[in-house]
Amino acid sequence: MGEIRAFPLDLCPTMPHWPKTREMTDDERTSRATAFFKQIASRHSCRSFSGRPVARATIEAALRAAGSAPSGANRQPWHFAVLSSPGAKTALRVAVEEEERNFYGGIGGSEWQGLLRGLGTTAEKPYLEIAPFVIVVFGVTRNGTDSVPNPHVTESVGIACGLLLTALHEAGLASLVHTATPARFLNRLCRRPAHERPIAMIVVGHPAEDAAIPEAAAVRKPLDQISSWL
Ligand SMILES: Cc1cc2nc3c(=O)[nH]c(=O)nc-3n(C[C@H](O)[C@H](O)[C@H](O)COP(=O)(O)O)c2cc1C
Repeated sequence: MGEIRAFPLDLCPTMPHWPKTREMTDDERTSRATAFFKQIASRHSCRSFSGRPVARATIEAALRAAGSAPSGANRQPWHFAVLSSPGAKTALRVAVEEEERNFYGGIGGSEWQGLLRGLGTTAEKPYLEIAPFVIVVFGVTRNGTDSVPNPHVTESVGIACGLLLTALHEAGLASLVHTATPARFLNRLCRRPAHERPIAMIVVGHPAEDAAIPEAAAVRKPLDQISSWL
């Protein structure tokens, strides 16, 4: 019997071989995974940044990590608009604060505001001007002139953002994921077309001296609540 393949090889060319990984014992694997867990668990959202500069090359490397994420049909449906100019960041702060004042003024509803209690969030967003970079992440619904829409855009972009946050943390930088509103304004500010949808803003920089982790953010669900084994 011939070998069964998912795709005829000529339609599905492959790379010559799977990248070699070093052989490890189970203990070594577990200890590496545990060390990584400890390192990534020390990541927290920062809401007080210093103006200390960050090298553009560091952000570029982190964006390359984000761009290596898996995506539906490998469409890589993301675009990262990196804001660093004082003019752009001030315009962003003004627009976001106006939106947030409406939210905190009642439009957001008291249930939502209840959820945010304890995290120390307010309508004031000085960090949008102070932090050296704000990355506006767009989900790209179609590539170029393709008529087929990209599949699983939100899921793919979410995974890419996870890699981006991990790379930034690994580089010793602080970050904050912020809700991407007002959407139309973000498209205009970042000069992105209407078929790209803002999904998140990621504020990046060094923490200010007074940066702190709200107690509410330090609470993590235990493993038995976030996993089940079948
Ligand atoms: C999709 C998303 C949107 C968020 N939006 C905001 C936001 O608008 N403002 C804010 O201060 N934090 C925002 N956060 C940060 C969360 O509040 C924070 O991740 C959560 O409280 C856990 O804290 P930690 O990041 O320190 O672990 C957002 C996080 C995510 C993933």
